[in-house]
Amino acid sequence: MKAIRVWAFGGPEVMQLDDVPDLQAGPKQVVVRVKAVGVNPTDTYTRSGTSRKPPLPYTPGIDAAGVVESVGEEVTGIGSGARVYISGSVSGAYAEQALCEQYQVHPLPEKTSFAQGAAINVPYVTAYRALFQLAKSKSGEIVLVHGASGGVGIAAVQLARAAGMQVIGTGGSERGRNLVIEQGAHHVLDHHAPNYLDQIQVLSKGHGVDVVLEMLANVNLEKDLKILAMYGRIVVIGSRGRIEIDPREAMTRDASILGMLLFNMTPEQAAPIHAALFTALENGTIRPVIGKQLPLAQAPQAHREIMEPGAYGKIVLIP
Ligand SMILES: NC(=O)c1ccc[n+]([C@@H]2O[C@H](COP(=O)([O-])OP(=O)(O)OC[C@H]3O[C@@H](n4cnc5c(N)ncnc54)[C@H](OP(=O)(O)O)[C@@H]3O)[C@@H](O)[C@H]2O)c1
Repeated sequence: MKAIRVWAFGGPEVMQLDDVPDLQAGPKQVVVRVKAVGVNPTDTYTRSGTSRKPPLPYTPGIDAAGVVESVGEEVTGIGSGARVYISGSVSGAYAEQALCEQYQVHPLPEKTSFAQGAAINVPYVTAYRALFQLAKSKSGEIVLVHGASGGVGIAAVQLARAAGMQVIGTGGSERGRNLVIEQGAHHVLDHHAPNYLDQIQVLSKGHGVDVVLEMLANVNLEKDLKILAMYGRIVVIGSRGRIEIDPREAMTRDASILGMLLFNMTPEQAAPIHAALFTALENGTIRPVIGKQLPLAQAPQAHREIMEPGAYGKIVLIP
């Protein structure tokens, strides 16, 4: 089978398409024939060697969707031919096959395409955990999805709207902002416009926002604290550097700054989220948005694009 492999940490060009042996399932494992691969910013951090450093060579990628090809003799409840999406694998997702532990394989509803299936795990599990498990968001509260046009942001907008929250999103391009509104935000702001957060006072009728999901905390955390309502919660999802904040802004509001990393979740913590996402896909509450599909061989191009401004849903690779 063909797989992208990284032989040295570095720029996007270090990813190359290689011929590798087909994968065999161990007793508790599943081999998935991959139909679509989800590209996440974290894939670029690993490839460049700035975060986790897997032994080389390795195949990148966490998210994919496809069809079960074979299962180990101790696997129960799922068999060959089942449509699935995956939440990580043993072998890497940027490939024609992925070898998974059974807990990394989740059923994909008939109505959800493979491209959409590849856009579920990292974006929607992150958004769900941030909104509900960490911020403990409630219907009627106001949420600012600070960076709503990308993978996690669109997921958060859909989930928050369906939960009965007032949703304010931000996007850096007009196309992205239109998407944020289409996907359910009540209001959208341009995070590149001067003083754009001044509008929060008006939009929230002086209340401030109860919850912020923050995609770029090193730029926004100080501003987020200032627009927060009493007892407000900020969940730091993305941050690419350092920032100075005034802790008094948190004190005066009894505010909480919560951090999260998907990799810290146990399979037991993730299982109820995957169950909720299956139902939400089935009943149309969540609808992953695919902005671009590229052939697997163009993984380097996908890594360049995901780090550029102008996000529009998900970038997906097709093996
Ligand atoms: N903690 C975790 O476990 C976890 C999990 C998933 C993702 N993340 C991180 O969360 C971030 C978002 O992930 P993603 O998959 O949604 O990435 P993505 O699809 O590339 O989207 C990036 C988002 O950030 C927005 N952004 C750009 N400049 C901004 C600014 N000044 N203020 C607010 N938002 C801004 C982009 O908007 P425009 O392009 O429209 O400007 C876009 O909406 C990434 O840094 C990623 O590494 C963390």
